[in-house]
Amino acid sequence: MSSTWPILQRLSLIMITFFLQQFFTNTSHGDVGTAARYSPPYSPTACYGSDPSQLPSSNLFAAAGDGIWDNGASCGRQYLVRCISASQPGTCVQGQTIQIRIIDSVGSAPSLPSSNGTTMVLSTTAFQTIANASVVAFINIEFQQV
Ligand SMILES: *[C@@H]1O[C@H](CO)[C@@H](O)[C@H](O)[C@H]1NC(C)=O
Ligand SMILES: *[C@@H]1O[C@H](CO)[C@@H](O)[C@H](O)[C@H]1NC(C)=O
Repeated sequence: MSSTWPILQRLSLIMITFFLQQFFTNTSHGDVGTAARYSPPYSPTACYGSDPSQLPSSNLFAAAGDGIWDNGASCGRQYLVRCISASQPGTCVQGQTIQIRIIDSVGSAPSLPSSNGTTMVLSTTAFQTIANASVVAFINIEFQQV
């Protein structure tokens, strides 16, 4: 009888570890990165040239930073993006997620980003939907390809 207890204890530890791992895996939906913003002109783009009809009419689009540009394979990819924090508290619009399409690379975009070296650079419309744009040059984001 007494020799079964260590086994039961070990089993419950394994099970607790397993459930904790499941919990944290399931609640993390995407990658963490940073996003700056840029302003018009947005065209011409590295993905679509000078054809403005290729830009989403919602204006929810972004230029890809080096980490996700993928040599142009990222053109047209769509990401869910939400603001998770910023240097200034209260910058993020809580509970707001946007879906953006990659239309350009940051390096070849016709206008400069508000901050260099971010994961992606959002259109003004996209940035303003998830953050108080007047306060910071970049925000920390969670993003997930869809
Ligand atoms: C980003 O880098 C470019 C080129 O070095 C520079 O002209 C620009 O001022 C930088 N932007 C910011 C926000 O620091
Ligand atoms: C954005 O931040 C500024 C400066 O802190 C503040 O005055 C303004 O009310 C904020 N706007 C929103 C929509 O939260």
